[in-house]
Amino acid sequence: MKWKRKDLIGLEDLTKDEIETILDMAVSFKEISTRSVKKVPPLRGKTVVNLFFEPSTRTRTSFELAAKRLSADVLSFDVSTSSVSKGETIVDTAKNIEAMKVDCFIVRHSIAGAPQIIAENVSASVINAGDGCHEHPTQALLDLFTVREKLGKIKGLKIAIIGDILHSRVARSNIWGFTKLGAYVCVCGPPTIVPCEIEKMGAKITYCLDEALEDADVVYLLRLQRERQKENFLTSLKEYSNYYGIDEERYKKILKNHGFIMHPGPMNRGIEIKSDIAERDRSLILEQVTNGIAVRMATLYLTIGAR
Ligand code: CP
Repeated sequence: MKWKRKDLIGLEDLTKDEIETILDMAVSFKEISTRSVKKVPPLRGKTVVNLFFEPSTRTRTSFELAAKRLSADVLSFDVSTSSVSKGETIVDTAKNIEAMKVDCFIVRHSIAGAPQIIAENVSASVINAGDGCHEHPTQALLDLFTVREKLGKIKGLKIAIIGDILHSRVARSNIWGFTKLGAYVCVCGPPTIVPCEIEKMGAKITYCLDEALEDADVVYLLRLQRERQKENFLTSLKEYSNYYGIDEERYKKILKNHGFIMHPGPMNRGIEIKSDIAERDRSLILEQVTNGIAVRMATLYLTIGAR
């Protein structure tokens, strides 16, 4: 299919065909990162700007490597030493950088909708790298890619997403992505951090972890976002870990179903997951990170190269 979108703001906007086009293209890009010379020319002459107003390890590095492996020039904008600290708006910041003739902004912001506002005000492409509690589309795309690669399909699988659904842009993008591709998505966590509205997106809710783990092909653990919790949603971290953390007994249940564990990172070891379980055979956590580069190469190529 011919790619027509200037921006990638969320998986809510994408069709099943568009999601599959990105995943299929990522398959061919994955091999490039296994070569001794990890570089191909399709984005030579293009400029990609990382505009991160929130901290990031995986997404920022992954986009930078993806762009460089496609031969684009990359500028990682340091917000803390920029004129944003003097009160310049995000739109003025983006417009001024665009005036230097750049082709794409990768935007992360704590406010939901910030990448959309920038996209409406610049001609360059905008890719959402996570906005508030709204969406994190490339995280969900790399998760879909990892599941499809490992299990050979997505349709008909049971995906259990566990934890802080309320504050999670990763959960929202994954619910859109997995349901569009035909998976059954079940979300689970304490009632205070699992909003009922999530059912409107096509996911089922349970507050019982054993029920969520039953027959789950993938157990997707979310980070407990303590920095976004302005009220006391939890009585204690220990209680959360007792009810919703993956310990030995629950890991055995996952093994019995031949299920896999995923996590977008960064992990709170000992809270969402007993520390050493994250490194065991059924964990796909580092494969997710590896696949992030191929998926972001595909996203950049379609958005600014192929379009
Ligand atoms: N998964 C994810 O978004 O991680 P970072 O915050 O490190 O980018």
